[in-house]
Amino acid sequence: MGRFESGWGEAVLREPDPSLTALSLEGVSKRFHRGLEEVVALDEVDLQVAAGEFLALVGPSGSGKSTLLHIAGGLDRPDSGRVLVGDDDLATLSAADRARLRRRRVGFVFQFFHLIPTLSVAENVALPLTLDRARRVDAPVLEMLDRVGLAPRAGHLPGELSGGEMQRAAIARALVSHPALILADEPTGNLDSATGEAILDLMTERVRETGAALLMVTHDLGAAARADRSLSLRDGRVSAAVSSPGPGARSRGRTKGATTGDDAVTGAVTGTLTGAGAAAAAAAGAEPVRER
Ligand SMILES: Nc1ncnc2c1ncn2[C@@H]1O[C@H](COP(=O)(O)OP(=O)(O)OP(=O)(O)O)[C@@H](O)[C@H]1O
Ligand SMILES: [Mg+2]
Repeated sequence: MGRFESGWGEAVLREPDPSLTALSLEGVSKRFHRGLEEVVALDEVDLQVAAGEFLALVGPSGSGKSTLLHIAGGLDRPDSGRVLVGDDDLATLSAADRARLRRRRVGFVFQFFHLIPTLSVAENVALPLTLDRARRVDAPVLEMLDRVGLAPRAGHLPGELSGGEMQRAAIARALVSHPALILADEPTGNLDSATGEAILDLMTERVRETGAALLMVTHDLGAAARADRSLSLRDGRVSAAVSSPGPGARSRGRTKGATTGDDAVTGAVTGTLTGAGAAAAAAAGAEPVRER
């Protein structure tokens, strides 16, 4: 067990309480239109993830995995159904409140990292805290970088990192604010198996330590086997368990590291960002330019 403090000073080390639902999707549907064609990306999805639980959702390409995660994290809205993060119904929150919820309570790990290329590794990891104008930024960022073994790369730009290092930076960013809900989209999809295992170690360890809930979507059955519970997603519908293996959590690395520059970060995320940068800023909890 490790000891953690959040950027706001309160201790977050706690026992998972499985009676608490960290995420609840109730009858969630989402359709997209391509010309005259309608694609049903999610079809009446019901899903609950308990505090302290690692749930894997396994599905092939196009089954609706990313759509589900984006809706769960408030990055997109369902056409119908309800999404609750903890006790908060996302539909009842203003755009600013949803952004705040993402900054403080949700950690999003994207399949393609979505690091902001003009910010250093430390600044990328600091994003949820700097966007939240947290008083303590450097210490939690250092601790997170240390934790993922990236302290020596703190001042580097994402473009100078390997794929595994970029994924570790993305995970550090997702975890730095001690979110109660971690949403991970194919976190091992671009990694070799050893690096993928290390990434899964890191995330499961965090779930065991902090009582956070982890929802991971993947097409990788090996990665899903690490979860407490697995469900299958096909054509936008969730069905029964793929498997129910036991949990797993292991070691971590320890090194030393650097600091962050708030102004550069705030400038970069309030400036014009497109593609990966905009997605990264939104996931870190930047307020959207307009109501979605
Ligand atoms: N913005 C969009 N416009 C139109 N169709 C979309 C949009 N986003 C997703 N879709 C469609 O919705 C379906 C589900 O897409 P989604 O990206 O959620 O799948 P996925 O399971 O994440 O796939 P992958 O494993 O390839 O990432 C697909 O048929 C996709 O083409
Ligand atoms: Mg996807």
